[in-house]
Amino acid sequence: MTRKIPFYALSAVVVFLYILYALINNYILDPGAETFLSYKTDLELELKPRIWLTVMYIHVAFACVAMAAGLVNFSSCTYAKRRRLHRVNGYVYMLSVLIVVLTSGYMAPYATGGKVSSMGFNLLNIYWLIATSTALIHILKKRVEKHRRWMVRSYAFCFTNMLIHLISYVTHEWLGFTYVGGYTIGVYGAIALLLVIPELIFRAGNAQDRAESNKFRI
Ligand code: HEM
Repeated sequence: MTRKIPFYALSAVVVFLYILYALINNYILDPGAETFLSYKTDLELELKPRIWLTVMYIHVAFACVAMAAGLVNFSSCTYAKRRRLHRVNGYVYMLSVLIVVLTSGYMAPYATGGKVSSMGFNLLNIYWLIATSTALIHILKKRVEKHRRWMVRSYAFCFTNMLIHLISYVTHEWLGFTYVGGYTIGVYGAIALLLVIPELIFRAGNAQDRAESNKFRI
């Protein structure tokens, strides 16, 4: 039990700082997303900045709600002692994911990197909906462990934007790719990592459980 606290606490700090960054950056420092939009020079569809920005504001707001709601529900405190809070908050998370997916569906055709990035976002949208619905179906059928695992897979995608920007920063600033090239690598790099990381977390958990149970064997 004590082993799990640092990982949760670390995740909480990362989530808190990222939400703060997303809110300050998108609503205060760069509300017109001027830097980001300046890279959308060869779009096939005409981007209407006011509509795109409104959709982006909704997207960011609900992405932050999803990140916060998910974090609260992973706390052992909520699912062990406050079942009702866990359930209500769980539906807040699912509704937020749905809104992020819908707004992402609007923005995907205008994605930086054109059709290639756009395809990545659409695949991600489909997988995120499937993972989140699978988690819901499992808990409605009282399969707690499977629900937990699918929620971890779903929650991982709350880190999509953070990873895209981290990867595109490294590829653009350090490895010399163009911004658009780096962003496209960021989209697929984030998808790959966010599919793999939850499975690594489960393996590490299984290995720890085996080590624990061996300790008590005579
Ligand atoms: C949950 C955490 C997320 C946050 C905080 C977030 C935030 C943002 C922000 C600030 C933008 C504006 C452009 C930028 O600065 O990157 C954006 C764009 C976008 N996001 Fe998200 N997002 C999140 C998750 C997702 C997920 C899971 C998807 C896909 C299912 C997604 C799809 C998109 C798309 C398609 C765009 C437009 C990209 C472009 O125009 O190139 N986002 N997001």
